[in-house]
Amino acid sequence: MYSQNVDFTIMSTPRSTLELHRQRFHQEGAAHAAPARVNLIGEHTDYTGGFVMPMSIGFHTTAIISQGPGGRIFLQSENYNEGKSFSTDPTTWKATHQWSDYPMGVLWALHEAGIDVPPFAMTLSGDVPLGAGLSSSASIEVATAMALLAHAGTGLPLEKLAILCRRAENAYVGAKSGIMDQFIVAGGVAGRSMMLDTRALSFEFLPIPDEARIVICNSMVKHQVATGEYGSRRDEVEAAQAALHAANPKIELLRDATLADLDAAKSKMPEAEFRRARHIITENARVLDAREALLKGDLPRFGEIMRAAHISFRDDFQASCKEVDDLVDIANRQPGCFGARITGGGFGGCTVNLVQTAAADDFVNALRAGYKQRTGIDADCFITEPTDGALALAQQAAAQMQGTQKGALQ
Ligand code: GLA
Repeated sequence: MYSQNVDFTIMSTPRSTLELHRQRFHQEGAAHAAPARVNLIGEHTDYTGGFVMPMSIGFHTTAIISQGPGGRIFLQSENYNEGKSFSTDPTTWKATHQWSDYPMGVLWALHEAGIDVPPFAMTLSGDVPLGAGLSSSASIEVATAMALLAHAGTGLPLEKLAILCRRAENAYVGAKSGIMDQFIVAGGVAGRSMMLDTRALSFEFLPIPDEARIVICNSMVKHQVATGEYGSRRDEVEAAQAALHAANPKIELLRDATLADLDAAKSKMPEAEFRRARHIITENARVLDAREALLKGDLPRFGEIMRAAHISFRDDFQASCKEVDDLVDIANRQPGCFGARITGGGFGGCTVNLVQTAAADDFVNALRAGYKQRTGIDADCFITEPTDGALALAQQAAAQMQGTQKGALQ
């Protein structure tokens, strides 16, 4: 299937994984889930205190947890078809640059936060496309955290949960990501995008009008946040931020800087750093404008802002690639498309497109055909709607469970 209305619910995905967990570990497991995310606008702004506007989407990671067969930790990945076992002694936990770093990183971050999890067996499975810029990493981290917290008989509020999962990714996995992904994957709400201020960690939910659909197209060019150029872009951004701070100590984070501040400090930084900072400063302004547009229901304006964001990401941030530029270019020529841009960390992955609902199917067909013709690649496209994040899913599961128990008592 090339086009899909993604609308999975927590209870429909994990059933077969629950069965596999039971067969493997001879224990009844409890299911926890976290979605993926797409970012509508606000790219690479989330590690210098800026604004982002993501939404959670209907791909999920499921983490099934139960007691383990012995006093050890067992991790099984259905996607990698591989199992691993670890000592419960935190001094032996070290990153190995494999999939298990993500769940082990969360276990480590919980331990660092004073939450010790009893020995367990966990089965992970998911349908989030890997390396596509849809945040498979945060989805695994948050699903794991939900499972481990429940196993330890505790829980965390949104902000603490997101910070903890980010810590796992930054300090254990070794990827220097910002806070956006973990925050939206944990805190998303169905039917809404989230405008997040990544400095204050304050947020509001914004409606996505029914006349438009968010279409995600995967260029099939894979990127990796843990290695590669994401980190070097971040270094350049932080160097520009330091130069701006040195010029004016009132600028603590790039978020505080204006284009005039940047122009004044131009001679203090290499051209590349100047451009990276210009992208961030203009992108923060675009997120604020996009918020206004969404509140007014002005979809053409929102689309215009998305187009400008792509140009800034391509030319100033220089983190797009030819295939993604092709996808965006073809998309922008289609009837019913308000705007298109790259989404996520960059260097490949997916585009996000704002498309008239009535035109969405034709848009997908034309985009896939045009992309195939230009690049020879078959793109996966998904017509999506904002779904619930992990905390909302957990609440629903708890309510469902209560309902079942009540039903049994009656
Ligand atoms: C990745 C990171 C996020 C964010 C985006 C770019 O997804 O994990 O923190 O920086 O790239 O906006």
